Amino acid sequence: MNFTLTENQLMIQAAAREFARKEVAPVAAQFDSSGEFPRETIRKAGELGFMGVEVPQEYGGAGLDSICYVLMMEEIAYADAAHSTIVSVNNTLYNNGILQFGSEAQKQRFVTPVASGAAIGCYGLTEPQSGSDAANMRTRAVLAADGSHYLLNGKKAWITSGPVADYMVMFALTSPEKKAKGITAFILDCNQAGFIRGKIEPKLGIRASATCEIQFADYKIPVANRLGEEGNGFAIAMTILDQGRVGIAAQANGIARAAYDAALHYVKERRAFGAPIGSFQMIQAKIADMKTRLSASRLLMLQAAWAKQAAKSTGARTTTEGSMAKLFASETAMFNAHAALQIHGGIGYSKEMPLERYFRDAKITEIYEGTSEIQRIVIARQETGLR
Ligand code: CAA
Repeated sequence: MNFTLTENQLMIQAAAREFARKEVAPVAAQFDSSGEFPRETIRKAGELGFMGVEVPQEYGGAGLDSICYVLMMEEIAYADAAHSTIVSVNNTLYNNGILQFGSEAQKQRFVTPVASGAAIGCYGLTEPQSGSDAANMRTRAVLAADGSHYLLNGKKAWITSGPVADYMVMFALTSPEKKAKGITAFILDCNQAGFIRGKIEPKLGIRASATCEIQFADYKIPVANRLGEEGNGFAIAMTILDQGRVGIAAQANGIARAAYDAALHYVKERRAFGAPIGSFQMIQAKIADMKTRLSASRLLMLQAAWAKQAAKSTGARTTTEGSMAKLFASETAMFNAHAALQIHGGIGYSKEMPLERYFRDAKITEIYEGTSEIQRIVIARQETGLR
């Protein structure tokens, strides 16, 4: 087994680390506090190619592989999870979906501006009544009598980057009687009439990543903006999530590593009862568990990224790899953030340090792009073939 990173992988890891240290870390607490969207840092991320890492250069991306993508995500999340959420939605839920299922014209028109960071992409699957049960959607797209466009009505909820997005990959019912098989994917221009953005959700963590409800009121979708065939939308949504979850694993590992590094530093500096607290066995157990979980989690992430890259030529499903990586990494992020905060005691609970932010940010990784409970269902269904 060879764990050596290629020149490109080392290069993007170093570039992302430098960017995260210089541009993201210094503003993370400020954006967390204000809940403002970090436009300027996201613009700079775009200039460095981080908004379209796996997108071929002909469509404005960096043309790198899936391992490069997770290494970049990890470094940004290490400095600030909220920034990495915005980066992640652009890269996987939006760009990768169109790259995989879109026509040549769709790739040119809709991927190019988002991959270069000039525009922001988002993903519209969840609705107020359907989160984990994603197929239970109500948003309807009805084909016009002349066949030129669909008329879209309904509501999406919890849309990451919804308040600022320029384009959306969105799923709606075209044949409600067929349930999951009656769902179709579309690409929307968010600045068109009938696309109505709701209030920004006040969130526990990743506060600089803007989230809102979106309402569609007689929104006209040209037939040319349908992504894939009618009825293939649910499989498209799930395939996109299989890949997106690898990025969330990377985000979670970034948070887990930031928490671990802070704890490791503190246990050597902080003294109690006449010794550094790291010399006490209850602290040592925490350090050992954090380090072991983090290492295992990174290996699952790299395995999933490797499988995702290989699937680009084989077309194989990487459902299990993506879900395992996300499940383990998100629980590792929670574990490490919790342990690191506990090790710091009172100062960890204070906003003077980033520990409480890691703790709040880590929680979302167990919820979005499929809860930990859903990941377990997905893995078990794949393994057993039972439902
Ligand atoms: N790849 C390809 N096809 C898939 C698939 C996959 N990973 N998963 C399911 N399908 C297909 C199935 O094969 C099935 O087709 P057939 O009948 O032809 O076999 C069809 O889709 C329906 O599948 P299921 O019967 O398994 O569907 P289900 O209703 O039981 O739901 C589920 C399955 C796994 C629970 C799914 O609903 C799910 O993943 N839920 C979680 C949703 C989620 O992750 N939401 C996140 C929102 S986006 C977000 O969070 C972004 C953000 O903010 C950053």
